[in-house]
Amino acid sequence: MDGNGRWAAKRALPRVAGHRAGAEAVRNTLRAAVEAGVEVLTLYAFSSENWRRSEEEVSDLKGLLRFYLDRELAELAREGVRLRLIGDHTAFGSDLVDRLELAVEVTRHNRKLTLVIALNYGSRSEIVGASRRLAEKAAKGEIDPAAVDEAAMAAELMTSDLPDLDLLIRTSGEKRLSNFLLWQAAYAELLFVDTLWPDFDKASFQAALHDFAARQRRFGGR
Ligand code: IPE
Ligand code: MG
Repeated sequence: MDGNGRWAAKRALPRVAGHRAGAEAVRNTLRAAVEAGVEVLTLYAFSSENWRRSEEEVSDLKGLLRFYLDRELAELAREGVRLRLIGDHTAFGSDLVDRLELAVEVTRHNRKLTLVIALNYGSRSEIVGASRRLAEKAAKGEIDPAAVDEAAMAAELMTSDLPDLDLLIRTSGEKRLSNFLLWQAAYAELLFVDTLWPDFDKASFQAALHDFAARQRRFGGR
């Protein structure tokens, strides 16, 4: 979800106003995804590199997350949305950790759509962690190193219970993956749009699905 800062700058507003508008855009996209029958929607909300931003901006982002969790939890539950987290959300402080974990707990039986929020997430560190756990198991003799295959690796990732990515959308004209789901996106269709995240709406999401539907996926076959 990129482009909040530029959206605000275009309007001579502080960056936090862009993040606030970005949070509103999340509601539209989530609704559009539920309507379209999407099974899993993953939002990259805060990367493990975003700590490099100013203390003020990090605190604004945390504040917004707290506000929206409180405001939206009932709606998520009502819409049949199950919340899942990836990344190390424990770095956000007990106040936010409690709210996040409550939201996961309250929505865990919902089946309509799984909303995955990537918080303090970085794909390389996820892969390193998974590799370390496999190495530890091998060192203890619990697994045979020769048995380490793609499935064994996938089972150690934070997304072990989720399907691979089908479509990856990056907003705001940037054309990078920025350490997002590198393993899981191996065969994802990539879509780069110029729209700044706060302007991304239901029509933008539907257009993305339309684009995806026209792609021919061969997964290395022909
Ligand atoms: C939102 O957009 C990304 C978050 C970390 C929430 P940016 O804050 O990266 O906006 P730009 O790239 O400065 O426009
Ligand atoms: Mg950015």
